[in-house]
Amino acid sequence: MSDVFFVTGGAGFIGSNLVHHILETRPDARVVVYDALTYAGNLDNLEGVIDGKRCTFVEGDICNRARVLETLELERPRYVFHLAAESHVDRSIDGPGAFVQTNIVGTFEMLEASRAFAANLSNDDRGAFRFIHVSTDEVYGSLGTEGLFSETTPYAPNSPYAASKASSDHLTRAYHHTYGLPTVTTNCSNNYGPYQFPEKLIPLCLLNALEGKRLPVYGDGRNVRDWLFVGDHCEALLVAAERGTVGETYNIGSNNERTTLEMVHAICDELDSIRPRASGSYRDQIAFVTDRPGHDRRYAIDATKLERELGWRARTPFVQGMQTTVAWYLAHADWCERISNGVYRRERLGL
Ligand SMILES: NC(=O)c1ccc[n+]([C@@H]2O[C@H](COP(=O)([O-])OP(=O)(O)OC[C@H]3O[C@@H](n4cnc5c(N)ncnc54)[C@H](O)[C@@H]3O)[C@@H](O)[C@H]2O)c1
Repeated sequence: MSDVFFVTGGAGFIGSNLVHHILETRPDARVVVYDALTYAGNLDNLEGVIDGKRCTFVEGDICNRARVLETLELERPRYVFHLAAESHVDRSIDGPGAFVQTNIVGTFEMLEASRAFAANLSNDDRGAFRFIHVSTDEVYGSLGTEGLFSETTPYAPNSPYAASKASSDHLTRAYHHTYGLPTVTTNCSNNYGPYQFPEKLIPLCLLNALEGKRLPVYGDGRNVRDWLFVGDHCEALLVAAERGTVGETYNIGSNNERTTLEMVHAICDELDSIRPRASGSYRDQIAFVTDRPGHDRRYAIDATKLERELGWRARTPFVQGMQTTVAWYLAHADWCERISNGVYRRERLGL
């Protein structure tokens, strides 16, 4: 079985970074991107890589089992990386139905299609096949000031987004346990980096800062997340696929706890040093706004299982990751412009 990587959600933020990362680091790999191109998916994220040879694009919905199966049978991947999802917590507060449909029903259809595909593989190919279910640390709920999420932390999802991802994790587990589908599940902390849609904190603040708009910080700004550079997440996904134990779950994080306010300060300080305002600091644009309903206070990841068993380590120090990210958005003003021209205009969601 050749190294074909099938990536759902490959036109989104993490998916497109994963596609670039596979093509750059796995010279024998061929990538098939399967994506419905929702508001969050954009072929601009894959500019220059879709060549019909090493990388092909298929427009399709993960809820369409027949189309997924037809594509799997045509492309015969060794790895299915399942990233396609509705991913924004605020949107899940305004409209949870789409999260149930895409994240739960869509994952069910992906699992069914993958099970049917795997059933017709030779024994060797079935032994090499992997379904990597990409999930989030939000399934574990909220922490107090102490402690970390491990793979054995009980699930306690609090937002409709987190509940839909938790449900998809359980389905994935059941498909391994019941049908022997060779699954690996990963639960990762908050990512930042290039190609992130500007409804999320980092690009939203970056673009607003440059346009002289306010930088909205929810509540008191002290909610804590464990921030990981997206390139490190992508390598962790490949390591989990290539060396992970079937049926296991792996937490991914980098011991990089920051409050929202610290993140916004980091963006402002980096911009102050490389693109200073005419006067004052970008920090002057920070505005505290009404908190998100049910906002989880703190997430923090214990990633020692992935480090100890599979030898993965986050390689990007926070300062370097933030410099790379800010520089990328500044250098891709045309991308920012095209992305911002869609329906979403950086308005507040999820109140
Ligand atoms: N962003 C994070 O910090 C983070 C952290 C941990 C885990 N995750 C998980 O990683 C995955 C990717 O997250 P992201 O931030 O890149 O999301 P994103 O919103 O940027 O991208 C989602 C992609 O999925 C596609 N998609 C949505 N519905 C689809 C459907 N029905 N059929 C086919 N494609 C569809 C979209 O077009 C888009 O390209 C998600 O499963 C998310 O839960 C994200």
